[in-house]
Amino acid sequence: MFIDLVRSRKTCRRFTDEPLSEEEASLIVEAGDKAPSSRNLRPVRLVPVADVGRIRELALCKDHGSDALLTATFAVVVAADPSVCDVWIEDASLATIFMQMEAEDLGLGSCWVQVRLRTGDGEPAEDRVRRAMGLDPSWKVLSIVAFGRRP
Ligand SMILES: Cc1cc2nc3c(=O)[nH]c(=O)nc-3n(C[C@H](O)[C@H](O)[C@H](O)COP(=O)(O)O)c2cc1C
Repeated sequence: MFIDLVRSRKTCRRFTDEPLSEEEASLIVEAGDKAPSSRNLRPVRLVPVADVGRIRELALCKDHGSDALLTATFAVVVAADPSVCDVWIEDASLATIFMQMEAEDLGLGSCWVQVRLRTGDGEPAEDRVRRAMGLDPSWKVLSIVAFGRRP
């Protein structure tokens, strides 16, 4: 039952080295894509990252609270095009939690790493993520979700 997942879910910030399968990663992204969207405008842009070196680079985007990205084996940058929808933060939050609940259902761990309004080395963390990922400069970045297998 869904309530069992809700009851057992806990944020996980340390993961084993064992990578996710392509199917697991794909199901997680599908769950985020299928989250509700205001007026169905769909401003959210999910950017999957399976390259561990790139995930470690993303861990440097902010000064605190990005530890989960130091061992994650999969991550999704949750970005949005604000010109598409004014309530992109709500839409992006829903995509984030849908992916976390899918991970839970797959027996995987996950952690929401906040990017919006956070800083790294005196610079907005959003700028650092956009640069590391080569994202469109007009996109906003809400979060990076870290995924992996629980120890
Ligand atoms: C909006 C939001 C931002 C969060 N940002 C971070 C973060 O930057 N780093 C982190 O390690 N955890 C982050 N978390 C996870 C929370 O710390 C965590 O959900 C909270 O401590 C409750 O623990 P639980 O998820 O195990 O119930 C965030 C959660 C939310 C909802």
